[in-house]
Amino acid sequence: MAYQGFGDNLESDTIGIKIFEKKLNTFFLANSFSKNFGLYNERIGALHIISHNKDMSETILTNIQPIVRSNYSNPPFHGAGIVTEILSDNVLKNLWMNELNSMRKRIHNMRSLLSEHLSRKQSKVDFDYIINQKGMFSIIDLDGKQVTRLKDEFGVYLLKSGRINIAGLNDSNIRYVADSINSVL
Ligand SMILES: Cc1ncc(COP(=O)(O)O)c(C=O)c1O
Repeated sequence: MAYQGFGDNLESDTIGIKIFEKKLNTFFLANSFSKNFGLYNERIGALHIISHNKDMSETILTNIQPIVRSNYSNPPFHGAGIVTEILSDNVLKNLWMNELNSMRKRIHNMRSLLSEHLSRKQSKVDFDYIINQKGMFSIIDLDGKQVTRLKDEFGVYLLKSGRINIAGLNDSNIRYVADSINSVL
C-alpha cells in the first residue's frame, strides 16, 4: 500500500486490506511512507504480518528475521525516526493528517482543472475519467509519438504509457501542460 490517504481518506483507503482480512487467515502487507509522509529518499515503510493465528504470526516472524539479517541487516533509521515521532504525538499526527487531506484535495482540484482545460479544446473526447480516477497518477489516452512530442517540443514529461503525475501540476503550470497536451491530440 503505497498511497494511503491519497484516495478518499486514510481510513477508507484500507478497504482492500479489510477484504483480505475477512477472507484470509494470514497475509502480508507491505506499506510505504514515501508518498504520504513525503519521505521518498528515506526508504521508509513496513512489512506487516497479519494473521488470525498468533502462533502462525510468531512462526513467520522467526522465519523472516534471518532473511532480514542476511539481506539488509539494519534498516535506514532516519525516515523511521521521523514517522515514529509524528505518529506517536497526537498534535503532530493531526498536523500530518491535515496536510495529507490538503494534498489530496489539491490533487483533486488539479484533476478537475486539467480535465476542464482539455475538454475545452477537445469537445469530442470525454476527459471526465481524469476527475474520477484517484491518487497521484492518471493515464491519459496518448500514444508513444504524442508522448515524445510532449517531451521534445514542450518539455512536458510523462511515461510512454501516458501515465502522468498529477501531483506535479500546480496553478502556475497547469495551463501550459494542458495547452501542450491539446497541441498533440
Ligand atoms: C505502487 C507502488 N508501490 C511502491 C512504490 C515504492 O515505494 P517505496 O518508495 O517505499 O519503495 C511505488 C512508488 O515509488 C509505487 O507506485
